[in-house]
Amino acid sequence: MNCRTTLPSWQALSASSEQLKEQHLKTLFETDSGRFDKFSRQIPGVLFDFSKQLIDDNTFEQLVKLAKETDIAAWREKMFSGEKINITEDRAVLHVALRNREMSPIYVDGVNVTAQVEAELEKIKAFTERVRNGEWTGFTGQAVKDIVAIGVGGSNLGPQMVTEALSAYSDGSLNVHYVSNVDGVQLAQVLDKVNAETTLFVISSKTFTTSETMNNAQSAVSWFLQSAENESAIAKHFVAVSTNLEKTRAFGIADENVFTMWDWVGGRFSLWSAIGLPIALYLGYDAFVEVLEGAFEVDTHFKTAEFEDNIPLLMALLSVWNSSFLGHTSQAILPYDQALHMLPAYLQQGEMESNGKHVTFAGQTVPYTTVPIIWGMTGINGQHAFYQCLHQGNVIVPADFIASVEPQIELGQHHDVLLSNFFAQTEALMAGVNEEQVRADLTAKGKSASEIEQLVAHKIHQGNRPTTSIILDKVDAKAVGRLIALYEHKIFCQGIILNVCSFDQWGVELGKGLASNIESELTQADVSHEHDSSTSGLIAYYKQKRNK
Ligand code: F6P
Repeated sequence: MNCRTTLPSWQALSASSEQLKEQHLKTLFETDSGRFDKFSRQIPGVLFDFSKQLIDDNTFEQLVKLAKETDIAAWREKMFSGEKINITEDRAVLHVALRNREMSPIYVDGVNVTAQVEAELEKIKAFTERVRNGEWTGFTGQAVKDIVAIGVGGSNLGPQMVTEALSAYSDGSLNVHYVSNVDGVQLAQVLDKVNAETTLFVISSKTFTTSETMNNAQSAVSWFLQSAENESAIAKHFVAVSTNLEKTRAFGIADENVFTMWDWVGGRFSLWSAIGLPIALYLGYDAFVEVLEGAFEVDTHFKTAEFEDNIPLLMALLSVWNSSFLGHTSQAILPYDQALHMLPAYLQQGEMESNGKHVTFAGQTVPYTTVPIIWGMTGINGQHAFYQCLHQGNVIVPADFIASVEPQIELGQHHDVLLSNFFAQTEALMAGVNEEQVRADLTAKGKSASEIEQLVAHKIHQGNRPTTSIILDKVDAKAVGRLIALYEHKIFCQGIILNVCSFDQWGVELGKGLASNIESELTQADVSHEHDSSTSGLIAYYKQKRNK
């Protein structure tokens, strides 16, 4: 693999970035009235406007060239055809097979995974229908009312984010509660709200070894047995989603109550698999399929659109441009849809767990920033919290603004008020407010000359803050599928352009192992390991206060 910085397009972009750092977006708009038409794209249900990014025609051309020079097309083909591009774990990367609605065969190690996916979807459908129509009953013969979904990371964030995004469409037949934190507060609060006789626990863990999930699952069983008393009742109240049948058996879950997934599904890309079971239970199987269909539409777009029009690829190129060339090391995700309030958290895992890497595929240290820090919250709440920094701070934070044409809930003028903010913020971040405008404004308000002198510097907004606007038709099941798939393919392209393996997470694995060593020191009197003085001091302080 070649070093990206030696590519002609990379070098051209380095030179362009020096020139563009001297440019102002406002000037770019003033000198080109066709900028929006030139730098915006549409696919069914989605408008993608990147005209407020600090690029010009030449940069755009070079970015597209960068995609070509980094062999995106060949890598895309490898992913879709099931090649083992997760080289450090020797696995295929096939979340696209989970929503392959045209059912074309895809082979991994000679096995048609499309057929496996279809069989599992049938199982999800049958189970979901039995639970939702009351045929599946608990140990006292009552139908299920509450789902408690236990899992963490990719086994939690995707399903919970989608559940939250689509809760407006729930028919109210089931409640879903998510438990991810091993802090007992979360589980206790959920268990307080539910009745063991009418609760179904879904334990989601690809490995079925993740300590947080296993502890929560064990505590849930203990709580459940206080009511059920008989262990045979567990079969009616606990199902699992996992690749690890040995562990699910050891836990006491019957094989027929285990929904499978495969090692070619990465945790953070797994909501399309049985990991999405809580979504199907909550909203119905048909809605789950609509999420898959929305994603499949984007998969088709990603596979077939020219690079110049390929939205996820453009998203990736712009991210690389902002972080690796312009030096902006953070990226905000700002949904102007309450339904998408968990999207920033979801994308934190998606982007940072995937591309938070420091070496190339070949193991060489990369000389550029890989992933920016992803953060954000719903735009309106952010406006009253951190937007001050976005407008006038001395760090520049490129931001994705996401809104929809139709609200999920029509309420007076609320949606127009919301969207006014959406449009106004990106306009202000781009244009800013210059000294002349500030002076004119203060003069019009009757301020004296000395008051104006005192205030003017504080009220200047430099603008030139790059944003992308994404407008969905409406946040419904298909739209959510489309949006997530756009970001997934963005992440993929970004990894290839940056030449990093986006599919492993060794840093997270390190953390998993570290805590288990210390756990024995906290739970067993005679165990102690060697640590640095800080860690030993902290452990000793904790144990003393806890009287251990
Ligand atoms: O959060 C890190 C991670 O390794 C994710 O990739 C994964 O989704 C999560 O842990 C949970 O792992 P598991 O599904 O095996 O419990």
